[in-house]
Amino acid sequence: MEFSTQTTASLHQIKTAALAVGVFTDGMLSSPADIIDNASNGAIREVLKSEFNAKPNTYLVLRNLPGVSAARVILVGLGKQQSYNAKIHAGAERAFANYCAQARLTEGVSTLASIECEGTTLRSRAQACATEAGQSVYRYDATLGKRDRDTQPKLRKITVVVGRGQAPQAQQGLAAGRAIANGMQLARKLGDLPGNVCTPTYLGTTAKQLAKEFKTVSARVLNLKQIEALKMGSFLSVAKGSNQPPAFIEIKYTPAIAGKGSKGAKQPIVLVGKGITFDAGGISLKPAANMDEMKYDMCGAASVLGTVRAIAELGIEQPVVALIPACENLPSGQANKPGDVVTSMSGQTIEILNTDAEGRLVLCDALTYAERFKPAAVIDVATLTGACVVALGHVNTGLFSKDDELADGLLRAGKATNDTAWRMPLEEDYQEQLRSNFADIANIGGPPAGSVTAACFLSRFTEKYRWAHLDIAGTAWRSGKDKGASGRPVPLLTQFLIDQA
Ligand code: BES
Ligand code: MN
Ligand code: ZN
Repeated sequence: MEFSTQTTASLHQIKTAALAVGVFTDGMLSSPADIIDNASNGAIREVLKSEFNAKPNTYLVLRNLPGVSAARVILVGLGKQQSYNAKIHAGAERAFANYCAQARLTEGVSTLASIECEGTTLRSRAQACATEAGQSVYRYDATLGKRDRDTQPKLRKITVVVGRGQAPQAQQGLAAGRAIANGMQLARKLGDLPGNVCTPTYLGTTAKQLAKEFKTVSARVLNLKQIEALKMGSFLSVAKGSNQPPAFIEIKYTPAIAGKGSKGAKQPIVLVGKGITFDAGGISLKPAANMDEMKYDMCGAASVLGTVRAIAELGIEQPVVALIPACENLPSGQANKPGDVVTSMSGQTIEILNTDAEGRLVLCDALTYAERFKPAAVIDVATLTGACVVALGHVNTGLFSKDDELADGLLRAGKATNDTAWRMPLEEDYQEQLRSNFADIANIGGPPAGSVTAACFLSRFTEKYRWAHLDIAGTAWRSGKDKGASGRPVPLLTQFLIDQA
């Protein structure tokens, strides 16, 4: 998708298939809406009398307005002017873009980013516009018949109307938003692909493709032998229950301008993504209902790949390493059994009391491996616990960190991109739930505070650097009729990395 800016006062003369203008409840028109209203003899004020209440997430299509060159004017509801905020703005851009995509238009013009809004800048509003527009054209089609493929949206171009002298800021925002949208598309596609297509090997191939596409990205995919040589006994214990070979994926993003700066080379930020391409639970088998959704258990890996794609497209100055331990978690004659004790790469022994708590078993070895990069910080992303869904639902990602500065940076990045996280506790007192009589640590801590004890388990492998953990079990995909990957937390992670650069 293409994005451009246009500076103009004569909105009514813009030739386009669809022009978005915002209106508030209680009859307050945004200034673009006011211009169109004046040009069309009060056509907008007329419909505001009864037909359209301007509530958030609603819109009304007006065709062929007299005195207006646009074929359609899309009135987009912004709610009460006093409570207008970044989230409502993003929702308005989404409503407009979704309309354009569904109506199979090829282009549209939005004036929504030009409206001032509490807690935002023109740059951040333009970014939201591009992110939402980019998302509106995502359609899963990899395993659908040709007829379904023919209903792909045709939307190719969104033009953002800005004030005089504001184009440069808007263009920065549009570039970031486009990159984030492209990263989300990749993450969503990988998540939505079935487990028999998106295997550990497939994730490795995807990493190699990114390395081909961007000169700043390199990728290495370690095979079973190489993983054995690293002594990743915990990761391998999960992988051995499946006939699919595991993969340990290492991606490096090195900024093109690195080394030229006076500050010297920056230490990398390491992202670690859980890559369980299907989680049946192993011998501690999951119930049958909705088990298909465990194809999404690699969404941490997908979001990490999507984030690498986004920062590579943007060319940010912060070096990044991405690590993905990828395998399946299946029951078989070779699978882990409850009570088994395995030795992690760190040397710590682990008693596997439940083979379905496999995410932490694959992540702990990747977290130990991360030490070799002397990272400025490590952030792991994982569909780790059902308990996190109980705690936070599908609204917020769970954030766990002992480092306040790192946690605040991630929370801020989430707020700025409408991809929010909520901080959860991570105190020593929870650690005692992981006590084992037969190993250094048990892999489950009983029913209380399940998402916290999972984070506590990971914390035992992260003593050597600043670390944060994102539990995306509730936010990585939607269930039910609109089942599909969300692309979260690509916006949060990308924004965080932009902010570090
Ligand atoms: N991948 C699941 C977590 C999950 C479950 C995410 C449902 C989203 C929806 C993870 O591997 C798992 O099975 N966790 C167990 C841990 C338990 C055995 C301590 C869980 O949450 O039930
Ligand atoms: Mn599991
Ligand atoms: Zn899992």
